[in-house]
Amino acid sequence: MCGIVGYVGPRQAQDVIVEGLRRLEYRGYDSAGVAVVDEAAGLIASDKRAGKLANLEKALGVDGLPAATTGIGHTRWATHGAPNDVNAHPHLGAEARVAVVHNGIIENFAALRTALENEGHRLVSETDTEVAAHLLERAVADGADLTSAMEEVCGRLEGAFTLVAIDSQDPDRVVAARRNSPLVVGMGDGETFLASDVAAFIEHTRDALELGQDQVVTITRDGVEVTTFDGEPSEGLHYVVDWDLSAAEKGGYDWFMRKEIFEQPRAVADSLLGRHTEDGALQLDEVRITEDELRDIDKIIVIACGTSFYAGLVAKYAIEHWTRIPCEVELASEFRYRDPILTRDTLVVAISQSGETADTLMAIRYARSQRAKVLAICNSNGSTIPRESDAVIYTHAGPEIGVASTKGYLTQLVACYLLALYLAQVRGTRFGDEIATIVRELEEMPQHIQHVLDGSDAVYDLARRYVDHRSVLFLGRHAGYPVALEGALKLKELAYIHAEGFAAGELKHGPIALIEEGLPVFCVVPPRGRDQLHAKMLSGIQEVKARGARTLCLAEEDDDAITPYADEIVRLPKVSTLLQPLLAVVPLQLFACELATLLGHDVDQPRNLAKSVTVE
Ligand code: G6P
Repeated sequence: MCGIVGYVGPRQAQDVIVEGLRRLEYRGYDSAGVAVVDEAAGLIASDKRAGKLANLEKALGVDGLPAATTGIGHTRWATHGAPNDVNAHPHLGAEARVAVVHNGIIENFAALRTALENEGHRLVSETDTEVAAHLLERAVADGADLTSAMEEVCGRLEGAFTLVAIDSQDPDRVVAARRNSPLVVGMGDGETFLASDVAAFIEHTRDALELGQDQVVTITRDGVEVTTFDGEPSEGLHYVVDWDLSAAEKGGYDWFMRKEIFEQPRAVADSLLGRHTEDGALQLDEVRITEDELRDIDKIIVIACGTSFYAGLVAKYAIEHWTRIPCEVELASEFRYRDPILTRDTLVVAISQSGETADTLMAIRYARSQRAKVLAICNSNGSTIPRESDAVIYTHAGPEIGVASTKGYLTQLVACYLLALYLAQVRGTRFGDEIATIVRELEEMPQHIQHVLDGSDAVYDLARRYVDHRSVLFLGRHAGYPVALEGALKLKELAYIHAEGFAAGELKHGPIALIEEGLPVFCVVPPRGRDQLHAKMLSGIQEVKARGARTLCLAEEDDDAITPYADEIVRLPKVSTLLQPLLAVVPLQLFACELATLLGHDVDQPRNLAKSVTVE
């Protein structure tokens, strides 16, 4: 995915754009570029550099581009072409009259490129984007205005794209088009903004307009005009952004990720807000699937990617236990290519923090084409995935800027628990007082999470003592198994070391061969209950300890049984097994964040990753 900014107004366009790109850098940081309309000269002025935004800022220097009040900018996550200066956006047309930035993939670009080259056009980059710049410029040179040119060109493009363009001969407008990639407009007083995410312009306005599929938007100082690709008048969706700039800034922490870890008590509390009555009955008014339809559901399939997938694995334990509905969990990228069995009584639950992940989006489109109902669990209001789903439960984590998901994950877990309990209530598989008891326990979670966070220094100390290890394993059972997987993912993403999560019971069937003297093994110990889980986990821990591993146990407060087998213990408040992931994952997040910091890595922008991946 990439980040895109456009601006028309009284300010210096370059400043507004660079500031906007800074807030969008989490979307990709392979290169950055800016282009403005130099009205005095009647030309496009632009600069673009490989690497992070800082490289572009350095190149712009003190003088920067010529004074201008209309411009566009881009921060890139490379798909077509290496991340170098030439492939960086903006791209220009043949005569450098039109400049374009793009997020997504133009799937038919090769054919378009060949046709252009046969007509004598010389394209200089390896990107799919440059063809759009040439096509747009040709259309305006033939007499179309930029808006009609955009409509016409988009009609010829296939794939996913947000395109934003400026024309040096039409200095007071920016024109954009949207298909399958995000785009929002910010409406200020005498100035108008375009961006992939409201974070880019929230400093200036909270008045936003969300664009729909296959729409073209023309922004000027005075406002906005929306049309379809066919040139018919159309409309976007107005909304007011309900978070402010401070929420998108680091608030004194070294990393956004660390700030977001510490925001989790608040995020979990916000995600519970208004979702149940005082006596603990669930009220999920936003689930626009009727109770009759929910009663008819005979199978649930959870689809997601990355960390959201691990939230889905926890959801399976809760859904099957509380509702007795069979539940499968599947990686979105695998789901639609294996001919899954879907009927109108299948509920597909799509979990996505960003609401823009292409693999998940394509999977829900497939599910809906097979008549399954789709419910999204999402953190981004107005993003594509909830808009294309039958129903949505929004998590209220607030903006998550760190590329590795933390508060997004915890609030997804909350949404999954709420959904499972709601289904149990509607279908009568749990008594009202049982549901109320679990809801009360959920309400206590923010203070328990805070308690775990209060112990962060001990976890940081662990990170310091284990910083030299190049391999770490994670073991869990039952709902602790997905926690082990997520703990390992966090370490891979941030510290770039070998990390693997295993079901503790499976260890003896192979992975135990990996154990060697001194290998750190995190063990997510389930609460002691009536079941055998705790005892079985204890056996697994003994097995690895006997072979020389260092056992780092996450165990509940008064779990003395673990003490003889634990080299290190991080204590967790006493909660039920199904809700324990909300607590157990927190020390693992802190550990990964601290270890990566100690190793000198960029925690918020790990190498090769992007916050949401809008290509399949
Ligand atoms: C990317 C991010 C992951 C994230 C995954 C799914 O790969 O790097 O942190 O978990 O996408 O994102 P989503 O927005 O769909 O939850």
